[in-house]
Amino acid sequence: MKNILVTGGAGFIGSNFINYILAKRDDYNIVILDKLTYAGNLENLIASEAKKNYHFIKGDISNKELVNYLFTKFDIKYVINFAAESHVDRSILGSEVFFKSNVLGTNILLEAARKFSVKKFLQVSTDEVYGSLDSDGIFTEDTPLHPNSPYAASKASADMMALAFHHTYGIPVVITRCSNNYGPYQFPEKLIPLMIINSLKGKKLPVYGDGMNVRDWVYVIDHNAAVETVFENGKSGEVYNVGANTEMPNIKIVKLILSELGKSEDMIEFVKDRLGHDRRYAIDSTKIENELGWSPKFNFEEAMSQTIKWFLTNKAWWERIITGEYQNYYETQYG
Ligand code: NAD
Ligand code: DAU
Repeated sequence: MKNILVTGGAGFIGSNFINYILAKRDDYNIVILDKLTYAGNLENLIASEAKKNYHFIKGDISNKELVNYLFTKFDIKYVINFAAESHVDRSILGSEVFFKSNVLGTNILLEAARKFSVKKFLQVSTDEVYGSLDSDGIFTEDTPLHPNSPYAASKASADMMALAFHHTYGIPVVITRCSNNYGPYQFPEKLIPLMIINSLKGKKLPVYGDGMNVRDWVYVIDHNAAVETVFENGKSGEVYNVGANTEMPNIKIVKLILSELGKSEDMIEFVKDRLGHDRRYAIDSTKIENELGWSPKFNFEEAMSQTIKWFLTNKAWWERIITGEYQNYYETQYG
């Protein structure tokens, strides 16, 4: 049995990871540490909460006493760090919490990993640490880091600290750098869920700038299968890019959503661009494919269509976010 601390497990990718992994493995004993910020939603974990190898603790990864206590209490030997402030627009409005959670929080976890001799520390990172591409080029693991937003800078700092802990203390760190995810339970501030929900509510769809910024999309379960692969077989001190070769300009995604929902393109509204908006991301996943045998399994058109259907059939999930009721779930379960 592996005692694994999974941070940020109530967020979009973390909760999909927990539900995916607990449905298939009973050799993982999962201890979730999540602060339940606005982005944390315990209702995402209803499918897993009754399992014996599921434990939830509300708390902050930058709380050293709590982190050390959990390592002792659960004999933690493995860490998967999903916890982060994750939204670029929020980091542009105010960056402090990004540095507290993403940089200091990762440092506290790495120090605990050192103190308690962990056997693997997986840092979930992002392609945004590489910066922005023009129309040519692709990010490989050797691309120099050039983060452009406060969010990306905080994630790049955490990556560099994790690698420094590997180099200096021999902590068995592995890093994944994935491109843009989509799928169930994504918080409705991000492009795809926001556009689906606005379409359903008859609201305008705000497209930044000329709508020609390109993102490289990957279905969340493909990302989480990559996390599992790197966690099990990744080589200490190595970085693995994760992507599905699905580059798409934002406007194409927005039109696809409108078409799938049978809505008019008149709902699109071009709005002021994001400050410092990265133009294009494109990720080369050759390394994880060749060295660890992972490859994406989901086709973009089908998985997007399933995602749109998920938001249609789970209206109550996102309506409870809009009203704020989702934040009561912790009290009803643990209060
Ligand atoms: P999210 O914002 O949906 O969820 C983040 C979770 O972390 C929330 O449950 C939140 O409560 C928790 N959290 C935040 N600060 C915390 C703290 N100080 N202590 C404990 N918990 C805290 O984010 P997401 O989209 O699920 O992203 C998860 C991870 O994956 C992040 O590290 C992000 O940088 C990375 N990532 C995201 C994407 C993407 O497309 N969303 C792509 C690549 C990498
Ligand atoms: O690349 C991985 C990253 O992807 C992750 O590290 C981040 O955590 C995640 O939030 C995501 O960052 P982006 O900034 O790419 O995602 P977002 O959904 O915010 O925006 C996607 C694109 O859509 C981006 O070019 C900005 C644009 N956009 C976004 C919103 C919210 C719009 O045009 N209108 C919008 O309302």
